[in-house]
Amino acid sequence: MADSLFERLGGTEGITVIAKDIVQRHLDNPDIGTRFSEGSGVDLKQLGRFVVEFLTAGSGGPGDYTGRDMASAHAHMNINEREFISVMNDISKALKAYGVSDETHDELIGISYSLKDEVMFK
Ligand code: HEM
Repeated sequence: MADSLFERLGGTEGITVIAKDIVQRHLDNPDIGTRFSEGSGVDLKQLGRFVVEFLTAGSGGPGDYTGRDMASAHAHMNINEREFISVMNDISKALKAYGVSDETHDELIGISYSLKDEVMFK
């Protein structure tokens, strides 16, 4: 049987590296950095943990996701199209930097994109 998405993302070790990279790219991204930076009230350590859990549970790995659902987590932010694309680009770059296959990259990008309506304009 083919490896699960969790395994193809490098398991817990790979997902931890990818999640850290995604959060760092968000901080460095001029389109969305202020959403996460000092003064935003976002707890970056906790965000990093939730992103690891989210990717793990969403890819068939062990353990539960203990963060908020996507609509609640992004409530009152009024996230626009440009910001959503910026987040997708950061996820894409982090996956490529980690060196996943094109197929694995496209699968995770597809899953992320499918969450668009839950995240935007809440
Ligand atoms: C596929 C798209 C996205 C996914 C999978 C995603 C995933 C997550 C997860 C798992 C959390 C943690 C949940 C929690 O705190 O309980 C979170 C929080 C957050 N996300 Fe997203 N997100 C997405 C898109 C976006 C976009 C487009 C933005 C806008 C820049 C954004 C900004 C934030 C912020 C600022 C937080 C922290 C909220 C807080 O601590 O109050 N996210 N996201």
